[in-house]
Amino acid sequence: MCGIVGYIGKRNCSDVLMDGLEKLEYRGYDSAGIAVFEKDLIRTIKTRGKLQAMQEKLANEGKPIGHCGIGHTRWATHGEPSDVNSHPHSNGRVTIVHNGIIENYSELKDFLTERGYTFASQTDSEVAACLLDYYYAERNPLKAITETMRELRGSFALGILFRDFPDRVYAVRKSSPLIVGVGENESFIASDIPAFLKFTKKFVLLDDDEIVCMDENGQHFYNGHGLPLEKEVQIAEWDVEQAQKGGFPHYMLKEIHEQPEAVKKTLDAYISNGVPDFEAVGLTDELLRDVKRVFVVGCGTAMYAGIVARYVIERLARVPVTVEVASEFRYMDPIMGKDDLVIVISQSGETADTKAGLELAKSRGVRTLAIVNVKYSAIARGADMCIHTPAGPEISVCCTKAYSVQIAVLYLIAFRFAYAHGQIDENVMKRLTEQLCGAPKSIENVIVQNDECQYIASQLVNVDTLFYIGRGLDYALSLEGSLKLKEITYIHSEAYAAGELKHGPISLIEPNIPVIAVATQRDVLAKTVSNMEEVKARGARIIAVCRKETEFAEGMVDMRLDFDSDLDDLFAPLPAVCALQMIAYYTSVLRGIDPDKPRNLAKSVTTE
Ligand code: F6R
Repeated sequence: MCGIVGYIGKRNCSDVLMDGLEKLEYRGYDSAGIAVFEKDLIRTIKTRGKLQAMQEKLANEGKPIGHCGIGHTRWATHGEPSDVNSHPHSNGRVTIVHNGIIENYSELKDFLTERGYTFASQTDSEVAACLLDYYYAERNPLKAITETMRELRGSFALGILFRDFPDRVYAVRKSSPLIVGVGENESFIASDIPAFLKFTKKFVLLDDDEIVCMDENGQHFYNGHGLPLEKEVQIAEWDVEQAQKGGFPHYMLKEIHEQPEAVKKTLDAYISNGVPDFEAVGLTDELLRDVKRVFVVGCGTAMYAGIVARYVIERLARVPVTVEVASEFRYMDPIMGKDDLVIVISQSGETADTKAGLELAKSRGVRTLAIVNVKYSAIARGADMCIHTPAGPEISVCCTKAYSVQIAVLYLIAFRFAYAHGQIDENVMKRLTEQLCGAPKSIENVIVQNDECQYIASQLVNVDTLFYIGRGLDYALSLEGSLKLKEITYIHSEAYAAGELKHGPISLIEPNIPVIAVATQRDVLAKTVSNMEEVKARGARIIAVCRKETEFAEGMVDMRLDFDSDLDDLFAPLPAVCALQMIAYYTSVLRGIDPDKPRNLAKSVTTE
């Protein structure tokens, strides 16, 4: 949801800003812009379109030459993607970039209009620029920012230049991520660490309502009243290579290929003496024993990881699990109490609805556990307990490796839960853990099947619609597979519990329509096969995702993607989801779409 950057130092500011924006393009890519002080004057260049369009504009017009500036890559909320709605926005003596949504922008606009301000764009962001200018009456930037903060409702991370201070970048945040990079005689702001990782690994987390002023002497922090603050400098664990494509044509393919290592690292982090161990994060057996019911809350793929968790925790621990879409959960007034545990799952740790779900649970006094890939994120910091998944930065908009590490952690939690509730003994817990440790190898066997996946993709490339079906864990996988495909190929696809077909959706089956049957669970295989027969009888083309040894009646399956695995069926989601990701990836590429930047989407949905 929009990426913002800012820089002051000795380097060419335009280059640093563009480099940072490239790393943040996953957050939005419908327009981009930079504003840089050229001596005492701010020069702004911005355009509609991806960063490539911005590069071209800079080449045509000449990039601003200076050492202090701000930049933005946009995911439109208010006002269509256009040159005029692109950031940075200037009004009066102030130029800003903004990530977030200013909820009361309409009333503020009226207030400012009455005082003679006019607006060039349809954005909520320009209102913030005007308001800053309005409160800049005493030519005191800090005062202007603190007064403005008091008026703005909603979420915002702002990078700010004041015309009178050509050697300063200011920034402030509330409910939108903003990190300050601490270099040698240079300073950065960014929505996410990869934007400045190439230059420094040192960073400071800005908390809500905090302000930073960066000048030639470094970074100066203030609270919402403008009083100085001491902030801790931290060192990022991610490195530059992790945030680059590393020879792959797309981040998505790279991230699919990182899954064996990411899952292994995750398991190593939370297994000791052959069993799951979450003592370090406070998830003890005593606590788990007390838990009578679990809510899993997340959005999109993270929520689908929760559906896998439901099957696994309920099956092993016999503890009821409810999975909720975070945007519903936050408004549904859920019945929860002190015997419950709310698990929030989020790759980015910044998703607005998931964060609100977490806050709701906390406000009701319910214990909260976050499973998060970004260690320093708001959700990671807000939950009572946090399990960090060490998958490294996930840059492709489409979530892949984060899902795998989320479910790896959820399996471990399920084993420990089952043990704490007396459903399994230590030996069984050890055996299950050992089995799970075989998952990285099974994933490796799947992700080398490029030819098979490309062939299946070639059969899907021109279809308008398709279906995913499965039962039990295969249904959970179908939901995720269908989301992956629709998100990056724009092909309409639906996932159904295979047994539901007869209750309506089967009327949509026509000759040649593809149906991807996820058939990894042997306890329900015969039933899934019956449902495959039903669609086959109506002319569907069936693509099976299954084990190598699974046999189907002759002619029933048109294509298949096998995985060769000794894993128990319980863990089949790990290799099987990689097969579904690969099918979606290659179909997207064959359709000429950039899978890393699908239309209308952005990673890290920090607005409601
Ligand atoms: C799908 C996808 C989204 C995210 C969802 C939650 O490929 O990427 O559905 O899973 O927006 O994001 P996080 O996990 O960052 O909370």
